Amino acid sequence: MHINVINHPLITHKVSMMRDKNTNPKDFRQLLKEISLLMAYEVTRDLPLKDVEIETPIQKCVSKMLGGRSIGIVPILRAGLGMVDGVLELVPSAKIGHIGCYRDPETLQPVEYYCKLPVDVDQRTVIVVDPMLATGGSASMAIDFIKKRGVTDIKFMCLIAAPEGVCALNKAHPDVPIYTAALDEKLNDHAYIVPGLGDAGDRLFGTK
Ligand code: PRP
Ligand code: URA
Repeated sequence: MHINVINHPLITHKVSMMRDKNTNPKDFRQLLKEISLLMAYEVTRDLPLKDVEIETPIQKCVSKMLGGRSIGIVPILRAGLGMVDGVLELVPSAKIGHIGCYRDPETLQPVEYYCKLPVDVDQRTVIVVDPMLATGGSASMAIDFIKKRGVTDIKFMCLIAAPEGVCALNKAHPDVPIYTAALDEKLNDHAYIVPGLGDAGDRLFGTK
């Protein structure tokens, strides 16, 4: 199992607040945004740099700036939307794509209903965001779509992962590194993450 668990006291504290069933949608949204910003710092750690010549008020010098591909952020609707603004705070020039899919409650298989990606997405490093990696079906399907558009450099960033989802995504897309704030115990009989935080989309948008 290949997984990057981002350990930081601020992230761990905020994830615990999000798990609490008494946390309301307003606070849940704010916490998800804050955690996403903190995680983006680690997820972008290996972005390549290039030498640039600049002139400070003192003298000319060679310094470093980002030199690789531009960034794309692709949230998996709905709950992935809650992670976009946090990443954008760090990478404000990123372009955003959207992939809509939901889990069929009977089969637990992902059903795709929307896909709109930037025209130059194949030139970008794409960070796919979704708070929950449960069976891994939604993430695998979203990454299939993105790869079909020619994207070769993809990272997946979630808040809580189940071991089952990590293994499934590793198997389907071994080239895609997974970053999570927490690796939980298992899935329950309804494929919800245990202990998890419940239904991320409903808690984010207050739909239940
Ligand atoms: C949730 C979550 C993921 C998916 C994870 O979305 O945001 O997209 O489940 O489950 P999986 O790893 O087993 O595929 P959901 O299907 O509830 O849709 P929603 O965001 O529209 O509520
Ligand atoms: N989707 C969620 O929102 N929560 C889970 O625990 C599993 C899938």
